[in-house]
Amino acid sequence: MKKRIVIFGSFGKVGEAIDRDLKINTNYEIIAPSKYTEEKSKYWSRNNCDYDILNFKEIKKILINLKPNIIINCAAFTNVDLCEEQKAECWKLNTDFVEMLARATAVTNSHLIQFSTDYIFDGLGGPYSEQASPNPINFYGKSKLAAENAIKSIDCKFSIIRTNFLFGYSRIGKKTFVDYVLDNLSQSKPIKVVDSLYSNPILTSDIAKGVRKVIKEAYLGVINFAGNDYVSRYDIAREIAKLQNLDTNLIEKIGINDVEFLANRPIKAGLKNQKALLDLNLKFQNLENSLLEYLTQLKISKESIKEISKNKN
Ligand SMILES: NC(=O)c1ccc[n+]([C@@H]2O[C@H](COP(=O)([O-])OP(=O)(O)OC[C@H]3O[C@@H](n4cnc5c(N)ncnc54)[C@H](OP(=O)(O)O)[C@@H]3O)[C@@H](O)[C@H]2O)c1
Repeated sequence: MKKRIVIFGSFGKVGEAIDRDLKINTNYEIIAPSKYTEEKSKYWSRNNCDYDILNFKEIKKILINLKPNIIINCAAFTNVDLCEEQKAECWKLNTDFVEMLARATAVTNSHLIQFSTDYIFDGLGGPYSEQASPNPINFYGKSKLAAENAIKSIDCKFSIIRTNFLFGYSRIGKKTFVDYVLDNLSQSKPIKVVDSLYSNPILTSDIAKGVRKVIKEAYLGVINFAGNDYVSRYDIAREIAKLQNLDTNLIEKIGINDVEFLANRPIKAGLKNQKALLDLNLKFQNLENSLLEYLTQLKISKESIKEISKNKN
């Protein structure tokens, strides 16, 4: 019998990579509820899947009817600065929605896979292990930590996957810092980049491979998914320039105090990935290899778009 998997947030950066990866396995039946937009219609059939996920009553009823084996939640309010301004909206999606999912999971006996973040830490002592004590310094981090705590307080089967700075191919063109650097430097435009904000960058397709393993092994508990290199934003920008033969002189190094963020940022965030290696044999890549793989993904997608439009004409 097929495993039924419900993915929330399948048009987000992480959700899309997971959706794409799991669909390869014909033993999985994937259901990806999302709210219909014109943009999404090119990639997704709204049949039975067009839902406002913030309608908790309806979503809970659907989950109880579907009785999925696995529920993966990649939906989140991820704009860290906007979270400071729209606290109620942030809390509703990042915390209350997750609590509702955990309650539904307890009824359906499903396995809930929830994504969390290194922003639950204060950034004074990263990279962090799974055992480190959280101390969020912005509203986004508080809402994500409250979600973790809500899940833990409910008697359900769960995995909490904490991840951090990420990048990867997005069919609807969602951009990350990596795209910002690539776009600007390739047009010879100068950029200013902070010499701190440390993390362990990871490719979304590597996160997806990890989720595949979590499902296969029915792995429960808290686990970090993060790349092998601990680097600043400035290091990332330099590495991109180096790999693409772009002019590193276009990258101006600035201090964190030169930028006015609305939300406080953990300076030394990031996550240790030893547990993922030991428990699941997940060997996450270093920055150089992740970037090289991403550049290949971009090239392949550009070529297939060209091929499709050639065939149309
Ligand atoms: N991006 C990062 O650097 C980062 C770092 C650490 C942890 N994380 C965590 O990883 C997970 C995935 O993040 P991501 O970067 O993939 O997020 P993302 O690209 O911002 O996507 C989030 C998804 O959430 C859904 N969503 C957002 N607002 C919504 C609303 N008001 N109503 C309904 N759905 C809404 C959308 O789903 P649809 O597809 O259905 O439209 C959206 O595509 C999150 O839990 C995040 O906290 C991300």
